Amino acid sequence: MNESCSVLIDNQPYDFEVDGDFFWGNEVLLYDEASSPISKMDWKNEGYGIIQAFSDSDFFKLKSSIEYNVIKAIKLHVSDFDETAFTLDNYHQIVSNNELHNDIIDITRNLQNSDFNFDIEALVEHFSEVLGFKLTSYIEELDKTHIQIRISRPNSLDINPPHRDGYLSYYQDIVNVWIPIHGCNELSSLPVLPGSHLIPENEILRTQSKGAKINGNTYYVPCILKTKNGNICMIRPNPKQGEALVFTPYLIHGSAVNKNENITRVSLELRFPKLKGS
Ligand SMILES: [Fe+2]
Repeated sequence: MNESCSVLIDNQPYDFEVDGDFFWGNEVLLYDEASSPISKMDWKNEGYGIIQAFSDSDFFKLKSSIEYNVIKAIKLHVSDFDETAFTLDNYHQIVSNNELHNDIIDITRNLQNSDFNFDIEALVEHFSEVLGFKLTSYIEELDKTHIQIRISRPNSLDINPPHRDGYLSYYQDIVNVWIPIHGCNELSSLPVLPGSHLIPENEILRTQSKGAKINGNTYYVPCILKTKNGNICMIRPNPKQGEALVFTPYLIHGSAVNKNENITRVSLELRFPKLKGS
């Protein structure tokens, strides 16, 4: 069934069409503070916090590794691609149609630690220390590490719906780490609904996993259309270069529309499970 999803992002209304079957859930709270990797943080009730993650030199090393992966993905699909003129900034001028973009993100949303010329394990260590729990980058159910480069072109529907990663079984015990790489600002940064990890399922109207289609694309994550309080009012915490937005997978986030006129937005998503027994 076609529904209009209306969200407020920093008080600005944004609407898009979602195709899916929506239902209210049971009277249960999925977020469990006792086992959550954010339980020692003073922002645990907001569900998200901003954590310093990189020195300038480490950040630029990571960014160039991301550029390398995007270029590699474009090369697989564009035979006469001139990489010397490419920057993440002008991605949308080179990848100007949806079909090619979908081919590129099929690759960039399925990467692993080994695809990056960057010490991901050092990041795991860093976030383990900050959160006070031993984390790992290995996701048992997927039997691999999992890193996603998110690319969102200006004036596009390159967005996933408002959702919780925790609805997917392999993301239930993780912490989400969202890292701004390029073009992330007050017009494009990832929106979240503060405190929404504390909303029980009977107050949430959503689809099943793989049950929502936006602009012809089916997303793995369910779409959350509204809560019992009405439409979803999100904010963009907008972490700066070198920082990371860290949040529980039960926090509602997404619909990261890029309202910049002429800049592609690129971010990195990592998911670190708590090491068993820690
Ligand atoms: Fe997500």
